[in-house]
Amino acid sequence: MKSVILIGYMGAGKTTIGKVLARELGVEFYDLDNYIEDRFHQTVPAIFAEKGEEGFREVERKMLHEVAEFENVVISCGGGTPCFFDNMDYMNTRGETIFLDASPQVLKEHLQMGKTVRPLIQGKSEEELIAYIEESLEKRLPYYRKAKHTLKIEVIHTKEQIKDYVEQIKIKVKVKNEK
Ligand code: S3P
Repeated sequence: MKSVILIGYMGAGKTTIGKVLARELGVEFYDLDNYIEDRFHQTVPAIFAEKGEEGFREVERKMLHEVAEFENVVISCGGGTPCFFDNMDYMNTRGETIFLDASPQVLKEHLQMGKTVRPLIQGKSEEELIAYIEESLEKRLPYYRKAKHTLKIEVIHTKEQIKDYVEQIKIKVKVKNEK
């Protein structure tokens, strides 16, 4: 099996769905942010604070090249990963890229439910958050749309929904891998 690489905006469900997908496929799961944190012994917010966003993007690119060299794994990227350097084209050469496509409203709900600290949206009010998502998503969509597959995502409330998304991804990937 070619690796499966999940991309999409912050809060789309990349990590939540990726973990279950990897378990179902019986392969290793790599979350790029966690991989960076393990390799650098520093949290993503700490790397942003120390090196700025530009420095973080350099680190992210390097680490992407490490994890994407593994065969037969599931990888979930950071929301910005596809939008810098040639990362998106590179990912398309390494595996089945899947864009988890959620509306700004869905993203906002997921981000408000989540506990992860995200430097780009920290401290924003609800109105600021939705405005930021709408504006930055618009800029990111051309990159996300380069993915080989797209999966529409609604607000995730139940484990059944996650299982359903996983099944849909398995079908998309299986068809492609059997060719
Ligand atoms: C970012 C998304 C985050 C993390 C960093 C920057 C982004 O990952 O990589 O905070 O630019 O969208 P998640 O999408 O997993 O939150």
